[in-house]
Amino acid sequence: MDQIKVRGGIKLNGIIEVSGSKNASLPIIIASLLTERKVTVRKVPDLADVRTILELLTFFGSEIKLTSGVNGKVLEINNTNITINKAPYELVRKMRASVLVLGALLARYGKASVSLPGGCAIGTRPIDIHLNGLESLGASISLEDGYVNAEAKKGLIGSEINLPKVSVGATENLMMAATLAKGKTVLFNCAKEPEISELGKFLNTMGAKILGLGTDKITIYGVDELGETDFTVANDRIETGTYAIAAAITGGVIKLQGAQTNQLFSVFDILSKTGVSIVEDGDAIIVSREGDIIPFDIATQPYPGFPTDMQAQIMALLSLANGSSIITENIFENRFMHIPELVRMGANITQEGPTAIIKGVKKLKGAPVMATDLRASVSLVLAGLAAQGETVISRIYHLDRGYEDLVQKLTNCGADIDRITGF
Ligand code: UD1
Repeated sequence: MDQIKVRGGIKLNGIIEVSGSKNASLPIIIASLLTERKVTVRKVPDLADVRTILELLTFFGSEIKLTSGVNGKVLEINNTNITINKAPYELVRKMRASVLVLGALLARYGKASVSLPGGCAIGTRPIDIHLNGLESLGASISLEDGYVNAEAKKGLIGSEINLPKVSVGATENLMMAATLAKGKTVLFNCAKEPEISELGKFLNTMGAKILGLGTDKITIYGVDELGETDFTVANDRIETGTYAIAAAITGGVIKLQGAQTNQLFSVFDILSKTGVSIVEDGDAIIVSREGDIIPFDIATQPYPGFPTDMQAQIMALLSLANGSSIITENIFENRFMHIPELVRMGANITQEGPTAIIKGVKKLKGAPVMATDLRASVSLVLAGLAAQGETVISRIYHLDRGYEDLVQKLTNCGADIDRITGF
């Protein structure tokens, strides 16, 4: 298994090109299953999660072509010859987003089976909202031998669905399913994450009729079929935020080209309160820090609140603040696995239920640490960039799931970081 070695203490300085969004690409690729016409998706990031979903589609019978374009990868998908509509455990266990194939396959074929999902171990992460919502659209659902079996012999039927909790995945799954349902579907209490709007825009370019994107009430008028499209994925807001913290934690200056500024208000607001400077420059931002890191209390919330996907990274930053901060994790109950690892590096952090108390220390020290989930892993890289000495991060396959060219991008900014293969 590969490792990443970081020798910290260098102020990063340079330009980073932000990649296409992982969390937008995954549902968009899955939504291609809703049509038998050709789908082209541009600026798809080259990530393990994307490869996993493509492997799953290939298993179903999709023809996939992934080539290098001027601006990231270009993906061409042809779903004319889908013969299988059962997603097996070996593929689904690697990635939780696979559960989204349920809505798309069910809508198009009236039948689908998906193994109960895996993915990051950040809590129990049930899929009850997905399943209850599909039932409201007329599907019958059964659980058997670790598989969810869904069937709608006469097709799905539009309905009014009140989501009991704000869920990104459930909103996406139901939105996809409803595009081919008979009649009108109204989803209440939807998640408002930008990736949902991206998916909706993509579906609308295929001929879907979705209104209310970006609000908590999404209306979908079912259509008989969806057609061809050519769509470019937006850039990754979490990657933007992560590299902004790389600049902040090292006291450097990084220009982030293609930053998703309009999707990062809460993150930039909090970063500026911690003493980080963010200056817009066309479609780029320049992030820097000169003074102390100022402590600040943060609570994760659904969009437009502070994202849970940035919680581990900001904790690494606040571990070096000149005072105490409190972070409350409201979305996932077990998303603090980076705490013991940051503590190994000299951070002073204690956990009390959903709350972490971070007492800022003057410096972090390099140590061998273990990546536990995607965002936790990158928080260790960030801590390693600021720490004295060498940090060796194991189990970095988590990082490969979500950060395209991480080592190269940081090296370009002067970081002393290597990937060591074969451990
Ligand atoms: C997506 C993102 C992930 C991000 C998360 C929250 C992708 C591929 N993943 O994950 O990066 O961290 O949104 O912004 O886009 N819940 C239920 N029942 C359900 C579904 C969810 O109880 O049926 C709960 C979850 O356990 C969690 C909360 O709802 O506590 C939010 O989860 P959700 O928004 O669904 O996250 P994901 O879509 O899995």
